[in-house]
Amino acid sequence: MDTLKVGIIGYGYWGPNIARNFVELSASQVVAIADLKEEQLKRAQAKHPQVVLTKDYHELFKLELDAVVVATPPATHYPIAKACLEQGLHVLVEKPLTLNSQHAEALIDLADSKGLTLMVGHTFEYNTAVHALKAYIDSGELGEIYYLDTARLNLGLFQRDSNVLWDLAPHDISILLYLLGQSPISVSAHGMPCVFDGVPDVAYLHLIFPNHKLAYVHVSWLDPCKVRRVTVVGSKKMAVYNDVENEQKIKIYDKGVDAPAYTNSFADFQCSYHYGDITIPRIRYAEPLREECQDFLDCIQSHKEPCSCGRDGLRVVKILEAAQRSMNNGSTQEGIQW
Ligand SMILES: NC(=O)c1ccc[n+]([C@@H]2O[C@H](COP(=O)([O-])OP(=O)(O)OC[C@H]3O[C@@H](n4cnc5c(N)ncnc54)[C@H](O)[C@@H]3O)[C@@H](O)[C@H]2O)c1
Repeated sequence: MDTLKVGIIGYGYWGPNIARNFVELSASQVVAIADLKEEQLKRAQAKHPQVVLTKDYHELFKLELDAVVVATPPATHYPIAKACLEQGLHVLVEKPLTLNSQHAEALIDLADSKGLTLMVGHTFEYNTAVHALKAYIDSGELGEIYYLDTARLNLGLFQRDSNVLWDLAPHDISILLYLLGQSPISVSAHGMPCVFDGVPDVAYLHLIFPNHKLAYVHVSWLDPCKVRRVTVVGSKKMAVYNDVENEQKIKIYDKGVDAPAYTNSFADFQCSYHYGDITIPRIRYAEPLREECQDFLDCIQSHKEPCSCGRDGLRVVKILEAAQRSMNNGSTQEGIQW
């Protein structure tokens, strides 16, 4: 297969990780990197001296590229991705795909009309621990799923042009959609601006999925501890995915409780608890971003839909929009039309 020529737009915090992966993959060659800031271009030059560097991403359109990755701030995703698709380039856009669903739909339509791959960087959909957790849910080993709870907390990184909902919750929402294979019916959200007026840095989401499944998402830029955790509570077992752990990322707890049959007598009211073993499955290590970049290249070559495709990006944006509406309206439960 031909090596695909890739350009990277945005070389701030995340762009260098993307560039490293495409440089190391045999199916791609990084031809150019664009960033508005001189200092970022200097960093790029030190790492990748063979690459064309520019402040103006339009310069990339003269280089006969096959694909670009957009790793710029979210507000710029739509205009940059649109311009790249219009030039006939396959596009991988970082999360969130866009800041509203009309823009996400427009990108999907544009990519479809030109037969191009549009992908969103929902990195956790390429995480082998998340795959293992899904396999436990799908196998029925956890029993009926009662609820899921996710927490993504740390001190920082504070931003003025985004809020914690749009910055961190795309990860948790994409994990929930992937694990359950379903979209929520409604969402409510509560956000608190603690540090900067009008910019929530702590948010709690409550999502209702079909069949009464519930999910809770807690995201924060203002917490003393780094937490990256997904808990799945089932009728038979419970699972915890702790991304901060190096080795024991997933633990399956054989714990549960059976309620007694109906009784009027307090003496008869005895729940039966069981406390079984804790299982720690071995998880094959693979860098999720590497897998994501490889999927992008594979899908371009084989005209397949990526695991985290544009429609997946749209689903997450629709949920974020509804959650933002709820936050603005005093935590109302907002229905989501699919
Ligand atoms: N998938 C993940 O795990 C993950 C992790 C971190 C960030 N991200 C996403 O990556 C994107 C970038 O985040 P970041 O933390 O690297 O931000 P950042 O602010 O550190 O870097 C963004 C860079 O884009 C450049 N830029 C802005 N507008 C530009 C333009 N028009 N042309 C060229 N360059 C431009 C800026 O100069 C900056 O260097 C965001 O969408 C973010 O949500 C994803």
